[in-house]
Amino acid sequence: MVKLTPPMGWNSWNTFGENINEKLIMETADAMAASGLVEKGYEYLVIDDCWSLKERDGEGRLVADPEKFPNGMKAVADYVHGKGLKFGMYSCAGTLTCAGYPGSFEHEFVDAETFARWGVDFLKYDYCYHSPIIHGKYLYRRMGLALENCGRDILFSACSWGADETHEWIKETGASMWRSTGDIFDTWESVKNLAKQQEKLHPYNGVGCFNDMDMLIVGMYGKGNVGLSGCNDVQYKTHFSLWALLGSPLMIGCDVRSMNEETKAILGNEEIIRINQDAACRQPVRLSGIWGGEDLLIYSRQLGNGELAIGLFNLRESAENLKFNLDELGLGYSTGKTLEMHEVWGGETFKVVNSTVARRLEPFACEVFRARVVDL
Ligand code: GLA
Repeated sequence: MVKLTPPMGWNSWNTFGENINEKLIMETADAMAASGLVEKGYEYLVIDDCWSLKERDGEGRLVADPEKFPNGMKAVADYVHGKGLKFGMYSCAGTLTCAGYPGSFEHEFVDAETFARWGVDFLKYDYCYHSPIIHGKYLYRRMGLALENCGRDILFSACSWGADETHEWIKETGASMWRSTGDIFDTWESVKNLAKQQEKLHPYNGVGCFNDMDMLIVGMYGKGNVGLSGCNDVQYKTHFSLWALLGSPLMIGCDVRSMNEETKAILGNEEIIRINQDAACRQPVRLSGIWGGEDLLIYSRQLGNGELAIGLFNLRESAENLKFNLDELGLGYSTGKTLEMHEVWGGETFKVVNSTVARRLEPFACEVFRARVVDL
């Protein structure tokens, strides 16, 4: 499978952890469809860890836990497909999954075939309990091959957290996305840390295999499996904007059955999604800025239609000024050109008049612009 833009969807882990079952998955599929998120591009509904029994069956196959999934996984897949979504599941390159369920090590081909039989379209593949003597690249190559030979188009989502220099070998395994950071938690510190961890990895992001900054925490407000202190809506907006502009897959992690209006508006912002899904999939560039500094991020990304997406992110807890010069974008005064900037959250539009853009941002806030090259 060749995925041309960052995958979008929902994953059970952030909110539900091991508390997953057929009813939850079906209600989530209903909510994804009814809320309009499917139409906005959220395509995959993924069940994470803790779905199976602790033992394989007599033929060495994984078995869905009959208490959680009494009608089996095929029935769940059919239901999810009926709602216009694709269906995702989870396994691990080790002997056990991270939560201690059977992993796919030395069962790669039979497991890929089982997933295909159930109608699975996406496999998240974790890295816990992996062999200490076989390098990760061989384990991911193996599952990549198993998936490409299982008779069904299954998106391969690698989850080795950037360990063992994943960026150097992951593309060759057939993965369409790869976790380039550690696990997310529902705190502002976590968002900040993941954004920074990502910085040196931008050159590896691109069409066909996307850097995955982990599932979104937007709308969790501290509730659920990775919900700790939680964040506020300003912070969620900044988190979502960063993930989108930096080209990460957008996998929702909150309970979509009970989203409030603000959460729906953040996850459904079509301009932000459009930037994330831009067909050119170019790398974001971090600008130095004029008053740059720790935790004041300015990113620019050249879109396929000649526009730029520019994000200003104030990760500090105080109001701050962020400023940059158009020279950094290649648009020096001598070009006779400037930018017309349109802010996609607030709607403000203005033309840059003196080659510099200076904005004051509230604590934790961001501004994201679509900028068009125009005459001075
Ligand atoms: C690891 C992954 C998480 C999640 C859990 C499940 O920590 O990084 O995203 O899948 O395992 O146990």
